[in-house]
Amino acid sequence: MPERLAEMLLDLWTPLIILWITLPPCIYMAPTNQSQVLMSGSPLELNRLGEEQRILNRSKRGWVWNQMFVLEEFSGPEPILVGRLHTDLDPGSKKIKYILSGDGAGTIFQINDVTGDIHAIKRLDREEKAEYTLTAQAVDWETSKPLEPPSEFIIKVQDINDNAPEFLNGPYHATVPEMSILGTSVTNVTATDADDPVYGNSAKLVYSILEGQPYFSIEPETAVIKTALPNMDREAKEEYLVVIQAKDMGGHSGGLSGTTTLTVTLTDVNDNPPKFAQSLYHFSVPEDVVLGTAIGRVKANDQDIGENAQSSYDIIDGDGTALFEITSDAQAQDGIIRLRKPLDFETKKSYTLKVEAANVHIDPRFSGRGPFKDTATVKIVVEDADEPPVFSSPTYLLEVHENAALNSVIGQVTARDPDITSSPIRFSIDRHTDLERQFNINADDGKITLATPLDRELSVWHNITIIATEIRNHSQISRVPVAIKVLDVNDNAPEFASEYEAFLCENGKPGQVIQTVSAMDKDDPKSGHYFLYSLLPEMVNNPNFTIKKNEDNSLSILAKHNGFNRQKQEVYLLPIVISDSGNPPLSSTSTLTIRVCGCSNDGVVQSCNVEAYVLPIGLSMGALIAILACIILLLVIVVLFVTLRRHKNEPLIIKDDEDVRENIIRYDDEGGGEEDTEAFDIATLQNPDGINGFLPHNRRGLLGGISQDAV
Ligand SMILES: *[C@@H]1O[C@H](CO)[C@@H](O)[C@H](O)[C@H]1NC(C)=O
Ligand SMILES: *[C@@H]1O[C@H](CO)[C@@H](O)[C@H](O)[C@H]1NC(C)=O
Repeated sequence: MPERLAEMLLDLWTPLIILWITLPPCIYMAPTNQSQVLMSGSPLELNRLGEEQRILNRSKRGWVWNQMFVLEEFSGPEPILVGRLHTDLDPGSKKIKYILSGDGAGTIFQINDVTGDIHAIKRLDREEKAEYTLTAQAVDWETSKPLEPPSEFIIKVQDINDNAPEFLNGPYHATVPEMSILGTSVTNVTATDADDPVYGNSAKLVYSILEGQPYFSIEPETAVIKTALPNMDREAKEEYLVVIQAKDMGGHSGGLSGTTTLTVTLTDVNDNPPKFAQSLYHFSVPEDVVLGTAIGRVKANDQDIGENAQSSYDIIDGDGTALFEITSDAQAQDGIIRLRKPLDFETKKSYTLKVEAANVHIDPRFSGRGPFKDTATVKIVVEDADEPPVFSSPTYLLEVHENAALNSVIGQVTARDPDITSSPIRFSIDRHTDLERQFNINADDGKITLATPLDRELSVWHNITIIATEIRNHSQISRVPVAIKVLDVNDNAPEFASEYEAFLCENGKPGQVIQTVSAMDKDDPKSGHYFLYSLLPEMVNNPNFTIKKNEDNSLSILAKHNGFNRQKQEVYLLPIVISDSGNPPLSSTSTLTIRVCGCSNDGVVQSCNVEAYVLPIGLSMGALIAILACIILLLVIVVLFVTLRRHKNEPLIIKDDEDVRENIIRYDDEGGGEEDTEAFDIATLQNPDGINGFLPHNRRGLLGGISQDAV
């Protein structure tokens, strides 16, 4: 019965195993939570104690009944006691054995199976593993039968401050504009601490500046770095090294610390005006320099950098503003003075310019510091250059009548040396432009004369080039084009515009126009052509034809009567005198041939004299008939000859039999073969009696002969 009661009690209490934890002595050394004392008792009791602990301790830390704590990094001579398992189950006569399993059981944590004491036999590192989950069980010592179900609990490793803060992203670089106001935020840095951030101050960091004061400051909590001085000047010092420290334990002594470096670079702002290196520049330039040539460079220095140092250059005053220009070279940050218009030493020998350099990007914050520009004076001296002669005109146009006398003066060119030491000039004609040597020039005065006669009807323009050379320096040469126009003179008589051939109808009416002719004249009078036509004086009273001038300068020939007859007269020749309107006028006589023809009723020419039609071909009908007759006669002779020859041929081959054989033998003897061409006389081929016959030909002849023999 007492056994039954014990069993009942056991059953009742089995789930209520009590972990009776003996506080390890080392906990007293830990700086915090020393007061966690757990007494043996009912689980309810333990829980209540836990609640109280929670209230006593920092709110973050919960205290659960099935937790044990062990300090990390403990290294005493003995293994550290973590706690004790205890069940207040009355085992009666049975001996209880405690068994531990789970994370690190046997390797890190060892249990005394009799007393239930758990020891850590290895040094623990919270930062490596912060808690271990283990299972405890009480079993019968003898039978190893579990006296209760296994119970899980946790061993937590308690933090100590064994990790220093670290700046994982350092060293740092940051920039801040120069001239910033005090307290301008530069950057912020962050350090990390591996220690437990929720337990104690081991991970509570405070930042401070070790180096870099008084220029920069740091906010202890947020690590925001700010400027601590106003108006730091990049031009004075551009780069600062700041050493930052992070210290744990809230910055208190005894805490661990880590440092990093921050390099702060001041960025440029436009706080400096440009300044010319010289207030006066001297340049010299030859007067004949090509337009656009760079004459010199001026530079205004600027302590700023980049676009803050950029200046644009201008010519703002001076006596050469029209002749010179200045362009800004953004690369070299200087100004280039160039020539815009031609210089002339003989006119002006020096110029003065006032140039200005002005910053392009102005920062209004500093406009109070004065104008961000500077000026300088530029003196330009023009140097004399030996210049080639200059003609009085860029081109010349001369006119000359085509009948001008040889050596007569056509015109004159003049040139001068623009240099102070004015050299005399010599003139010549570029003979490449006057291949026919039509003209001459007086080398001294430039007068152009006629060398050979002109003919406007051959060439109206003679465009030549005149060369002017300085006597003192033959390399100073200029050229000028001279166009010489040949003016017309009436030196050509008019004549018929083409070869006219007129036809006259036998049945024509009196007064009928037989032909209209026009005239042409090679000359080119300014007022145009006007021709006069007339019959020869002795023909003025021609009974057969008359002439009539038309409005358009042409001439009509009219029949005077209708009594023309081919039988009586086939052809009439009518000389016509044509004269032009020149002064003096020129005239010529052209003869018009008029043929009499038979015409239809409506005046269409049907037949003139036969010869008149055949003649244009060049042969008369009679001649043609004669040629035809000759051809026929020739054909007849040829046919006759061939027929006769055929009849004679038959006895010829037979009679020649012996000769042929002889030829064959001769051929074999000589062995000349086909290549022995010299052995054959082609001429004898035509002659059957020839001694040296052409072999193939003769052989054919032989065969022919044999076959004929057989017949
Ligand atoms: C010569 O020059 C004149 C005037 O410049 C021009 O009209 C003419 O065409 C030129 N003749 C030749 C053949 O170049
Ligand atoms: C005019 O024609 C007639 C014949 O028709 C001829 O005899 C005479 O010579 C001609 N006169 C002239 C001037 O041709």
